[in-house]
Amino acid sequence: MRDFECRDGEMIIGGLSATEIADRYGTPVYVTDEEALRNNFRRIHKAFNKQMSTRIHYACKANSNMAILKILEQEGACIDAVSLGEVLTCLKVGYSPERIMYTGVNVSNEELEGLVEAGVHINLDSFSALRRLASISIDAPISFRVTPGIGSGHHEKVITGAKNSKFGVPIEDIVDAYREAMDLGFKPKGLHAHIGSGGLSVEPFLDLMEILLGVVSDLKDELGLKLEFLDMGGGIGIPYRPNEKPMDIEELATELTTMVKEESEVRTLAVEPGRYIVADSTVLLTRCVDVKRTSRKNFVGVDAGFNTLIRPAFYDSYHHVVIANKFGRACTERFDVVGPICESGDYLARDRVLPEPEEGDLIAVYDTGAYGFVMSSQYNSRPRCREVLVDKGEIALIRDKEDMDDIWRHQTIPARLLG
Ligand code: LLP
Repeated sequence: MRDFECRDGEMIIGGLSATEIADRYGTPVYVTDEEALRNNFRRIHKAFNKQMSTRIHYACKANSNMAILKILEQEGACIDAVSLGEVLTCLKVGYSPERIMYTGVNVSNEELEGLVEAGVHINLDSFSALRRLASISIDAPISFRVTPGIGSGHHEKVITGAKNSKFGVPIEDIVDAYREAMDLGFKPKGLHAHIGSGGLSVEPFLDLMEILLGVVSDLKDELGLKLEFLDMGGGIGIPYRPNEKPMDIEELATELTTMVKEESEVRTLAVEPGRYIVADSTVLLTRCVDVKRTSRKNFVGVDAGFNTLIRPAFYDSYHHVVIANKFGRACTERFDVVGPICESGDYLARDRVLPEPEEGDLIAVYDTGAYGFVMSSQYNSRPRCREVLVDKGEIALIRDKEDMDDIWRHQTIPARLLG
């Protein structure tokens, strides 16, 4: 959680007061602070690269707004993409194909053809994908995603590396996958794994690296294959709660790179952080429209529901909330912060003590840069909201809000039902 400046009882984001931003752009609105974004990238890039050559592949599933992608492109990021759509967006923003690695699951032939045409690195997830790619092109740069058999993450829905996972080639088959790829004429470059998302401890990553180094050594011994890089995926968590400690990124980088340097001939590492880079760069501002006190519970009703931010409803995720125009005031009462969606699972925060709320107050939801806007929807026919970028007192619109035409655009009533 970042500390925000307080000026005259107002929360300040990127040099501007939350009220000023909301008055100008309406609510709900995602507000990204460019400086925080750049600092997050620089911190992780430096921590690894002072130890050994490491490509930071920003996992753009976390936030694929083109302005954010452009900022990270300027910083020298590479990309971890999970769909052809993400690949095409990154190419459009200015990333060269060499900077993009695609790691998909259950990939169609159509998508494989698009990836080959785009010229990006492909992380294969199965024997089926290998064989289908071979019939399209054997010149594509490839690696395999291995299922390491260990997982980590903030919720069972985001653990990917466990034995029963749908992702990757099981570890017992991984040497055979490389053997078959080489027999087909491919020249595999690397090895990839991702254990899950949102873990805050270093240990699972070290366990993963031990497993990957075992595979590297098997590939060398059994196939004479020397890999150019190892990709340990993403999954670095952030402290969403006030009392949580951030992961020690220096320790992570030092320990991992030491293992790679000491136990293999691989000289390039790849890391795929999404959340770590974007989560705390962004605050969601939502307006209090209704305050309801009942004999059992109090509610702050706001104009953003799980159509705007689904993480609390979907994963029971904690996001810190404050009243931005009563910033720093004493918290007096306990409330649930709930949205306008017609489901009782529609909440942003539960059981939070807040200063006395009133209609018109501005609620700031912290750490919403990762898996925030990208997971939003038009559920209940609510158009998606705006995104803005702030930087040292300047503000720019980076995504306009939708309107009803966006909801109706692709729908047709068959002629026989009309007239
Ligand atoms: N690499 C691969 C192959 C991944 O599948 C993911 C995330 C990442 C990297 C980036 O993980 P990160 O560093 O952001 O934790 N919607 C969920 C998170 C889903 C993550 C999916 N894969 C959430 O809101 O917590």
